[in-house]
Amino acid sequence: MSPHAHVVGWGKYVPQRVLTNDDLSRMVDTSDEWIRTRTGIRERHIAKDGETTASMAVQAARQALEVARLNPTQLDLIIVATLTPDYLFPATACLVQDILGATHAAAFDLLAGCSGFIYGLNIAAHLLSSGAYQTALVIGAETLSRITDWSDRATCVVFGDGAGAVILQTGENEGGVLATTLGSDGSGGDVLRVPAGGSFAPASHQTVEAGLHFIQMKGREVFRFAVNKIPAATCEVLEKAGLTLDDLDLLIPHQANQRIIEAAARFLALPPEAVYSNLEWYGNTSTASIPIALSEAVEEGRIQTGDLVVCVGFGAGLAWGAAAIRWTRPLPTPVPRWQRIPRRLHYSLAALRSRLRGLLRWLSSFWTRNGFLNGRRGRKK
Ligand code: ACO
Repeated sequence: MSPHAHVVGWGKYVPQRVLTNDDLSRMVDTSDEWIRTRTGIRERHIAKDGETTASMAVQAARQALEVARLNPTQLDLIIVATLTPDYLFPATACLVQDILGATHAAAFDLLAGCSGFIYGLNIAAHLLSSGAYQTALVIGAETLSRITDWSDRATCVVFGDGAGAVILQTGENEGGVLATTLGSDGSGGDVLRVPAGGSFAPASHQTVEAGLHFIQMKGREVFRFAVNKIPAATCEVLEKAGLTLDDLDLLIPHQANQRIIEAAARFLALPPEAVYSNLEWYGNTSTASIPIALSEAVEEGRIQTGDLVVCVGFGAGLAWGAAAIRWTRPLPTPVPRWQRIPRRLHYSLAALRSRLRGLLRWLSSFWTRNGFLNGRRGRKK
């Protein structure tokens, strides 16, 4: 029998800086009343200078590792789902791997719009149940404030920054990720996009002047798409798991708009307590929204051992996905302060290790450049 992929750790990070609707109303022609009634959002967190997708992802990952009582060296795989990587390349996941000191982990980034976290969960769960890996870290992390046009009221009121992470580990007992479903419809690519900065329209003075490096969104079209896809993907994944809506304890939809969440819940005939929402405090954090919500739901006691949780995402691509998870992990007791010391030491050593490896790489290229090796070959001639 193939092993099951259980969620054994979870964590979240949001930047300290809060941007309220009132703050926004001083920046663009909008109001707290409009934003709250049209989206349900009150405030969002915005990264400060120096804070990046990788740095936030690391904070969420460290929390998840602590909950799972795992050392970073036990990770086999790191997936970072993001629309806002630190660089086009190298992958943000590799930056995270290095900072964590996850010396045995493969690492890559994944781009699937706001459903990226569900895509990551799907891949990790399959790699675990195939026996290829034992422990995987899946992160959704975004610094959307860096690609937001702060003069465009139609988009800037919606997005926020943050990161969420889960750790999956194999186990023989029943439960964990029971089923996943993914889908895409690239004909809707222009509905939600950043038009420039890729190979189609590389960065140039013209693209920057035209603001083509910012998010462009046809809000109403995304709205309609989401209201249809959340119920469809939820029912599909439950069917794949051999379950029905009656078995569902908590639905965690991508946190994009309260009206979308409520419309989907109405369609599924779910009571408000069966649907999780926290976008009031974070806005739409894209790939981070589901793992942040999942972490908060567990911490708040909204998810108990044995519960059936469905996470469902949708967004740019267009792409969507859902995962049905049987929760098997109780809330852990807090870690005593002294037990955190070896962990802190590990992270300090990881930073040192990273610098040392950089130095060794430099020394080896210096060695080669200066012909020490070639010189020896030369003497042989
Ligand atoms: N303040 C005041 N008025 C505004 C604002 C604002 N912030 N934004 C738009 N308006 C105005 C418009 O100009 C328009 O005015 P008009 O009728 O005079 O032309 C009016 O409000 C209605 O505009 P709509 O765009 O139709 O407003 P809507 O009710 O659709 O709300 C919103 C816009 C909030 C963006 C909504 O469409 C939405 O949430 N869509 C889904 C977004 C989403 O889920 N995105 C997921 C992204 S995931 C990813 O992959 C990144």
